[in-house]
Amino acid sequence: MICQSQIVTNNSLILGIDTSCDETSVAILKNGKEVLANVVSSQIALHQMYGGVVPEIASRAHTERIVPVVRLALKEAACRYQDLTGVAVTTTPGLIGCLLVGLSYAKSLSYSLNIPLTAVHHLKGHLMSAFLEHDPVYPFLGVVVSGGHTAYYFVRNFNDIELVGTTVDDAAGEAYDKVAKLLKLGYPGGPLVDSLAGEGNDKRFTFTRARVKKGPYFLSFSGLKTAVAQLVRQFDGNDATFIRDICASFQKEVSEALGEKIEMAAKEFGAMAIVLAGGVACNSRLRSKLREVSDKLAIPLLVPSPLNCTDNAAMIAYVGARQIDEGMIGALDLNAEASTPLSIFYSQR
Ligand code: KG4
Ligand code: ZN
Repeated sequence: MICQSQIVTNNSLILGIDTSCDETSVAILKNGKEVLANVVSSQIALHQMYGGVVPEIASRAHTERIVPVVRLALKEAACRYQDLTGVAVTTTPGLIGCLLVGLSYAKSLSYSLNIPLTAVHHLKGHLMSAFLEHDPVYPFLGVVVSGGHTAYYFVRNFNDIELVGTTVDDAAGEAYDKVAKLLKLGYPGGPLVDSLAGEGNDKRFTFTRARVKKGPYFLSFSGLKTAVAQLVRQFDGNDATFIRDICASFQKEVSEALGEKIEMAAKEFGAMAIVLAGGVACNSRLRSKLREVSDKLAIPLLVPSPLNCTDNAAMIAYVGARQIDEGMIGALDLNAEASTPLSIFYSQR
């Protein structure tokens, strides 16, 4: 097991920004590791009535919130604009209008303070987020499960990341949100399904696991969502435990399907740890399933606390601090991109 030493960013104070989706987040990170502030302004209340994120509303809210959120982060960190030594910002993947708000703000800060700017891939932020709280262990199998992504990577070191597998259709969080919508539970659905599942019978409904032609590490959740939709259509309204049992059975299937792939990949690639991140990493059943897998393989499971699992800027500042240290500095003509794979993003720089 290799425990790589921490980043050598002494005396650095990096401001991180993430506006990739529906959270305006700004963090301040000292010396590459110490989180002085990690402010997350959630827009859930603005999107709830639509049952999902409305991109135009999200980007408008980021525009209104970015300056107050930066001020709040500086206040929490007890520092001034002039103390900052660099800016890190998510430039992909995400909603393009939302990404552009964070990027434009980051550029203006970098220009006016004459400090370096670095572009961070959002998924690299998620992959490294556990190291805000745990010492890095390489090589690890990094699992990102969120509303927009379900992917796992073999991470040999900070700059050597290989994609192992993904969902070929819905992301795990997206499947949770869609099932919650079918059951009229509200948005975002993941936490609601998770808590109802705890009271339900996970053996009542069984689902056929999709086999994906693309390869053994790929998975699919769209058939599962369709199977739930069919059960919901048959629901006669007089079944007191139907919703809880659907939640429990669905949650079991998602966790088992992910667990199966992750165990296989961790074993075959020789991972020394499993690192879990993204909003769905908060899920109780997935956590216990992966704990079971990590015990079986006798390797640690590293999971960040809930604030660092969901979208946040501390993970962006963490990756950014290291990138600035390594000289990966962006120019003011940097652009945002809706969806660039990790490997392509970093090979271009
Ligand atoms: O990482 P995240 O904050 O944003 C994206 O980048 O997508 O993840 C949000 C997703 C949503 O789909 C939400 O329903 C899901 O994470 N989520 C959960 C739980 N908490 C959040 N899914 C299942 N169980 C949970 N406890
Ligand atoms: Zn995310």
